[in-house]
Amino acid sequence: MSDTASPLLQVEKLHKRFPVAGKRGSLLHAVDDVNFTIGAGESLGLVGESGCGKSTLVRVLARLLDTTEGRIVFDGRDLAEMPARRFAQAAERAAIQMVFQDPTDSLNPRYTARETIAEPLRLLSAQRGAEAAARVDEVAEQVGLPQSLLSRYPHQLSGGQKARVGIARALAVRPRLLILDEPTAALDVSVQAVVLQLLDRLRRELQLSYLFVSHDLNVVRLLTDRVAVMYLGKLVELGPSEAVFRAPKHPYTQALVSAIPGQGPRIRLSGEVSSPIDPPSHACRFHGRCPRGEDRCAREAPLFVDMRGHGVACHFAA
Ligand SMILES: Nc1ncnc2c1ncn2[C@@H]1O[C@H](COP(=O)(O)OP(=O)(O)OP(=O)(O)O)[C@@H](O)[C@H]1O
Ligand code: SF4
Ligand SMILES: [Mg+2]
Repeated sequence: MSDTASPLLQVEKLHKRFPVAGKRGSLLHAVDDVNFTIGAGESLGLVGESGCGKSTLVRVLARLLDTTEGRIVFDGRDLAEMPARRFAQAAERAAIQMVFQDPTDSLNPRYTARETIAEPLRLLSAQRGAEAAARVDEVAEQVGLPQSLLSRYPHQLSGGQKARVGIARALAVRPRLLILDEPTAALDVSVQAVVLQLLDRLRRELQLSYLFVSHDLNVVRLLTDRVAVMYLGKLVELGPSEAVFRAPKHPYTQALVSAIPGQGPRIRLSGEVSSPIDPPSHACRFHGRCPRGEDRCAREAPLFVDMRGHGVACHFAA
């Protein structure tokens, strides 16, 4: 459950900007002033349409990308200011592990399942030889991978089995936070359900925290305690999943939730998503597409206002 007194992860004023090829001086604001926490044992969902910055955000948190600005405080230490070489040896490197979207892309085709799962142990732990082998056996069992499959290469495994290898690799070094970026998007629907159940069970058994990125709102509703909604680099709403899905406050979240079958009339958005390149700081990013937008929204960017744990960035949200 969420422990707001001392969160496991605290993200403060985080920015990630990319230079734009061929446009000197222009910057693409992929992550723009993002703030949130994840408590020990908590599962936080991250949703928003394609290109809104979800993968960039989680890659910055996992230190796969450098931070442009801001703080990433994990267990009391700021990872953003830690030089890459020091981070490579820090305990946090093992404590935050990532499970990627497509197991076919993220598994080395020349490694057996056993070699893949053992790799982080070799790089990030002191475990070697028989001790490392025993740890591989242990995590393989936790994720439901039979011993007989451990000598296989990725092309000899099914999609679901590859997903389990990816999860086992992440768990091998006993992380505290698992970042899952669309972990089941590449799987058949029936396999997805089984892998999601597995992830849910592992979180409880191992008392892990999750940051769970998904396009599938039904999955997010089932697997997360709280959910953060992202639009064009900014968090526009964050609250308990149950409340956000039952009574979304931000017009963008309302449109997202209305697309879930059985949620009443669908709100269709018109207009184009504005560009993340050099966005105007004085306007709401959603203006132009927002069904509730007014003149003020073009002149003044809304602040993110938290109300008893359910926050929203909109001038007119109750
Ligand atoms: N390495 C990069 N260099 C320049 N721009 C990038 C880079 N990586 C991402 N972007 C841009 O940053 C923005 C956010 O992309 P990102 O991949 O984080 O979105 P996303 O929410 O994960 O999308 P999806 O749901 O499709 O996975 C996009 O405009 C993208 O083009
Ligand atoms: S601030 Fe205005 S444009 Fe932005 S979400 Fe609210 S009503 Fe819509
Ligand atoms: Mg992505």
